[in-house]
Amino acid sequence: MRITHGIPFEICGGLWLAVFALSFGLTVPAFPQTPPRDALSLADEAARIAAVTTPATDFSRPEPYEARPGGAATGAADRSSFSQPLGNLRREQRLSFRLGEALFDKLWVQAPSSTQASDGLGPLFNARACASCHQGGGRGTVPSGPDEAPLGLVVRLMGPNGGDPVYGRQIQTRAAAGVAPEAHVSITWQPAAPIRLADGTQIPLRKPVLHLSDLAHGPLAPSTSADLRLAPPLIGLGLLEAIGEADIRTRADPADADGDGISGRAQVLGSTGGKPILGRFNWRADRASIAEQNAAALSTDLGLSNPIFPAYSGDCTPEQTRCLAAPDGGSVQHEGLELGQQAFALLRDYTARLAPPARRGLANPDVLRGKRIFYQSGCESCHRAKFVTERLAPDASGAVPPESFQLIWPYSDLLLHDMGEGLAGGDGAREWRTPPLWGIGLTQAVSGAHAFLHDGRAASLLEAILWHGGEAAPARDRVIALPSEDRAALLAFLRSL
Ligand code: HEC
Ligand code: HEC
Repeated sequence: MRITHGIPFEICGGLWLAVFALSFGLTVPAFPQTPPRDALSLADEAARIAAVTTPATDFSRPEPYEARPGGAATGAADRSSFSQPLGNLRREQRLSFRLGEALFDKLWVQAPSSTQASDGLGPLFNARACASCHQGGGRGTVPSGPDEAPLGLVVRLMGPNGGDPVYGRQIQTRAAAGVAPEAHVSITWQPAAPIRLADGTQIPLRKPVLHLSDLAHGPLAPSTSADLRLAPPLIGLGLLEAIGEADIRTRADPADADGDGISGRAQVLGSTGGKPILGRFNWRADRASIAEQNAAALSTDLGLSNPIFPAYSGDCTPEQTRCLAAPDGGSVQHEGLELGQQAFALLRDYTARLAPPARRGLANPDVLRGKRIFYQSGCESCHRAKFVTERLAPDASGAVPPESFQLIWPYSDLLLHDMGEGLAGGDGAREWRTPPLWGIGLTQAVSGAHAFLHDGRAASLLEAILWHGGEAAPARDRVIALPSEDRAALLAFLRSL
């Protein structure tokens, strides 16, 4: 019986915790996760889950299992860390992951073409591959000026009926032969009021200004607002999907009944059979599942028809007649779609099973001090450290899914928070979903640059914190007031995630 990956038994504190390690799937191969059989052991399990997910109070040493933010599913931490499979995938699951990766990296071509399996791009599209925006599984980067093309930054359109009546949900900057791209997108940077920290350091801030030119069908409707969205990193999404809804809702407090200044609202996207659908993906938590977001990305970013959004025309609206008349790449062997059911399932496997990386230097005294400051500043109120994922039913082959019943450390509550005027979107809405912070310290290594927040405006972790307002204003002010060594420790902690 091997207990854990490199976590000495002594830290686990004895047999009781060893049993824990087993039941949280920290063994290799995964422990057969038999659910408790009677009410007594169910209550016992609930108590154990509550105990391991309680916010930290002892900052003198790392917590048990903290080194592995994805539980048994954790991956290695290096340059390719955001493109590795979950650490506990079985052989056949690894194979599906690799096939899905090929689809994610594939450069699609326009129809008609001699390679039927790869055609169907457009008529309107932003990129030829998923990987163009989510390079290495990581986040997008931002252009430094108007001459550079935005990579991994898209223009989302919002109007009374969803998107723009003519341009649809998103501006596509590229198009198939015979169809005009919707617009040319560029960005300039506008300085915002710099922030003066308690130790006298001035931190300049900037925000992007969006410019749309060469609009193919004239200006946007007056009621349409346009907003930039950075491609987020894709690690650990299947684990986030495996968090129980009730567990997310327990932290929601829309009217701030407990008076702590932090409200947090669950994003409800409608309902099926009277059961509300909880949104948890994207910067506004406007997608309920990975599959649904993948389908939307295929349709709007690449223009590929798929099982959820079967229209060949993607984001073309009825006003865009040339776009609607363009040839499609549907083929019989893919159920008449450009990306059929089987490929869609493989793509889902890949995007769901990118591993959150192992922590680095978590026992370093500066990192531990930074962790204490993170908690004391109130960051954990939204960037919730720990969850235990639900027990998932065995898959078709009888295997327990790798995301099942893991103690995970995403540093997000997956709720929407009012982040103040400074971060308000083009539509004036100030609410954003707390982004997970796991892996954030590897941003530079994976993406070669730093771009944080929904539109990539923050060029450093400190800038990202200083933009926090609204419910998070008190947390930001505590960071502004920190002595410089404490601020450095907080940043060291974030870099260790
Ligand atoms: C043109 C750039 C671009 C391309 C190409 C692209 N994405 Fe994205 N992706 C984004 C942006 C921007 C977001 C955030 C959208 C939002 O918050 O509204 C996103 C979000 C996501 C998310 C949600 C992540 C999270 O943490 O909530 C998933 C999953 C995803 N994309 C998968 C894909 C897949 C699969 C493809 C290929 C079919 C793809 N993307 C192609 C830009 C892109
Ligand atoms: C009220 C909830 C709340 C509190 C408190 C809070 N945050 Fe955030 N944090 C958010 C939200 C929401 C965003 C995304 C905002 C956006 O993109 O415009 C965010 C974004 C971030 C980001 C950028 C993440 C990314 O992927 O781009 C970092 C880093 C961060 N927060 C760190 C902190 C730290 C450190 C603290 C404590 C000093 C803190 N946050 C306190 C809600 C909160």
